[in-house]
Amino acid sequence: MDNCPKEYKRGFKRFLGCKVDLSQKPMIPRLETEFWLKKAIKTINQEKKRVVCLDIFAGSGCIGIAVLKNCSELCQRMDFVDIVKDFLKQIKINLDINKISPGKYKIIHSDIFKSIKGELALHRTEGSGAGYDYIFANPPYVGLDKRHLVQESVLDWEPMIAIFGGEDGLFYIRKFLKDARKHLKRGGKIYLEFDHMRKKETEELLRQLKYKNYKFHKDQFGKWRWVVIRQF
Ligand SMILES: C[S@@+](CC[C@H](N)C(=O)[O-])C[C@H]1O[C@@H](n2cnc3c(N)ncnc32)[C@H](O)[C@@H]1O
Repeated sequence: MDNCPKEYKRGFKRFLGCKVDLSQKPMIPRLETEFWLKKAIKTINQEKKRVVCLDIFAGSGCIGIAVLKNCSELCQRMDFVDIVKDFLKQIKINLDINKISPGKYKIIHSDIFKSIKGELALHRTEGSGAGYDYIFANPPYVGLDKRHLVQESVLDWEPMIAIFGGEDGLFYIRKFLKDARKHLKRGGKIYLEFDHMRKKETEELLRQLKYKNYKFHKDQFGKWRWVVIRQF
């Protein structure tokens, strides 16, 4: 098919100074993700605090690898989670290409948080409890009800498990938010990407689940795209 994305044809994409191999056909990293992650990286570097992070819904691993590379002194460890085994292989390929030392990461096969319970105790620090300092999440968030708005090349080539989040697009966001705070240290932060058409519903979900400190942000195209949630 001639609508194959150029990134798959070329086999890789550049993302915040990293080379992201796409041989296992994970979702192609997006410019919107690069936009908010750049800000997260700046914050980590400004805070000058050692951090332990989770890249959940990791796909190619682009988010976690960019943090490891751009915050190399401060990011002590990154856990990567995906449900698709080929993407776990992809993450390892990308960690190796970007020369990340094996002591700095763990790759976990899990349905969202189901299999990462054992990790929590490892990340206990005096005063702020167990869990992660940062959780980065770019879940599948397009609603099946918006399928008609999705580009044909995405439907033809990209993995559907990375794109669609149930009928209303909130299936994974709902599941993620239900458990996320248990995995966050006191003072920790969640960066969550969402569909610009579901800001109202995402906010409603945060309220229902009694998250109190959060701030919504727009992407470089002026669309609501990401929210930072803090745990005090
Ligand atoms: C939107 S992609 C994000 C990929 C990458 N983080 C990025 O920003 O380019 C979502 C990823 O979530 C994974 N995924 C889907 N369902 C999952 C689940 N139940 N548990 C863990 N990962 C899941 C998909 O395999 C896919 O790699």
